[in-house]
Amino acid sequence: MYAGNQLSDALPSSGGSALGLRASLGARPRHGASGTGSAKKGSGASRSAGKVFLVGAGPGDPDLLTVKALRLITDAEVVVFDHLVGKAIIELIPASARRVYAGKEAGNHALPQHQINQLLIDLAREGLNVVRLKGGDPFIFGRGGEEMDAAHAAGLECEIVPGITAAAGAASCTGIPLTHREHAQTLVFATGHLKDDTVDLDWRALARPRQTVVIYMGLGALDIICERLIAHGLPAQTPAAVIHAATTPTQSGVRSTLARLPGAVREAGIRTPALIMIGEVVAMDPGLLLTSALHATARTTP
Ligand SMILES: C[S@@+](CC[C@H](N)C(=O)[O-])C[C@H]1O[C@@H](n2cnc3c(N)ncnc32)[C@H](O)[C@@H]1O
Repeated sequence: MYAGNQLSDALPSSGGSALGLRASLGARPRHGASGTGSAKKGSGASRSAGKVFLVGAGPGDPDLLTVKALRLITDAEVVVFDHLVGKAIIELIPASARRVYAGKEAGNHALPQHQINQLLIDLAREGLNVVRLKGGDPFIFGRGGEEMDAAHAAGLECEIVPGITAAAGAASCTGIPLTHREHAQTLVFATGHLKDDTVDLDWRALARPRQTVVIYMGLGALDIICERLIAHGLPAQTPAAVIHAATTPTQSGVRSTLARLPGAVREAGIRTPALIMIGEVVAMDPGLLLTSALHATARTTP
């Protein structure tokens, strides 16, 4: 499902719109601030700078793209995409468009961030409207802020197109509500990304009662996370889950308690991309966590 290490121009393209929405969307602005130029570079004529669109691709299921994201993808001239953008979404890019894989798996960065920033600038200065496609939402653990800053510093227009973040996708297809009047009045998103072999989070704040904690990029630090939360007062019996590849046909997950979650995850062989969900709401899983692969497939069938 995931694009993995696929390189620029290496992927097949269906060249069409997944949902048949394109015809109903009407004309769209193209090329720079004037927005009315030709789609293709004119013969010899210089083009004004293009615009950078930071587009959220959602958690994986192409049906969860926004209408705006779908329109930009199916009309793109150049798309720069991350490894978390699923193959089904990559296949929506027209065959005529350039595809550039920017990578960013943990420990396997196809391009360092400053080169990605420069690439977006260079492409826009060629006069292209650049679709920078990022998993989930560009402004949630997606370094979208840095790319926007770089575009603005280069004097380029930059538009943000939000996407469904992985936590919302995982909540919807497991049936675990992230907030609930009786169980969780606070919702916290945190990153569990390891730095110098440890995770530096505000453990006391994360261990508060009556809140749901969703940790992105935390699988490699799961033992530390569970141990620290218990040490800071969260009961060892607190319901907790790990959900892999939410909203895709390969979705899987385990539900357990905070104390037992690391062992359960190892036993189940859960891999990245995965989210950790902690809090009383996790116990409300109506059983979809285990049957969710079936659910994800069924949901995309008309
Ligand atoms: C660099 S962050 C990007 C987050 C993204 N911007 C978002 O809003 O969802 C990548 C992490 O998001 C989480 N993630 C992204 N897609 C996921 C999915 N479909 N299922 C589970 N976790 C996912 C994983 O924790 C992964 O390591």
